[in-house]
Amino acid sequence: MTLIAANWKMYKGPAEAAEFCLALREQDLDGVNVVVAPPYVSLAVAVQLLAGTEIGVAAQNVHWEPEGAYTGEISATMLRELGVYGAIVGHSERRQYFGETDELVASRARGALEAGLFVIGCVGETESERAQGKTEEVLRRQVSVFEPDDNFVVAYEPVWAIGTGKTATPELAQEAHAFLKSVLDVPVLYGGSVKPDNADSLLAQPDVDGALVGGASLDLESFTEICRAGARIRS
Ligand code: PGA
Repeated sequence: MTLIAANWKMYKGPAEAAEFCLALREQDLDGVNVVVAPPYVSLAVAVQLLAGTEIGVAAQNVHWEPEGAYTGEISATMLRELGVYGAIVGHSERRQYFGETDELVASRARGALEAGLFVIGCVGETESERAQGKTEEVLRRQVSVFEPDDNFVVAYEPVWAIGTGKTATPELAQEAHAFLKSVLDVPVLYGGSVKPDNADSLLAQPDVDGALVGGASLDLESFTEICRAGARIRS
């Protein structure tokens, strides 16, 4: 089944997250897997308000140790205690602004999987890497550090398409997804300016197994429309 995941980034504190989750649980989301990833402080309220639904709650990052002297970090064990289902690791904003390396991201994924979380591992080339013809080299390097696992999916998010409105064409996404799967055989979500009006054509590609949605996931109507596109595509 197609997976549609909402990455809220540093948006929606507990009050806004609660309002969104209460409305989301009233939507018809049959035929699609849905996950929301609020900021840490809004995880508890999301877990509480989505309890009893099929909608999963994920963190946007996770530390690999169960506990320790790691100021500012949150462990997978703690997330599990809260009832959190999964975590995103390696988002390009973590790599770009917080210096996260492939190895660090791999540790996060490993620790989270060992603790029983579902993991979305993000990869993607920058505009200049693509312009230099290095896309496959970069994707291979980034995805090779992960190991296949039933609870692991990759999100292909070309950095030049994130928050820019410049979506990859469905053909370009398909090509990158097929390449990633040739290196690591796991489902691959597409991320980068996914909107209701491009979701159908992206999700129609044979190797696009879902979407990781940023900006368009902050609005209930547009996120629900993307979820419905996900339900339509495999039905
Ligand atoms: P966007 O973000 O949909 O706003 O481009 C996607 C992401 O960063 O996960």
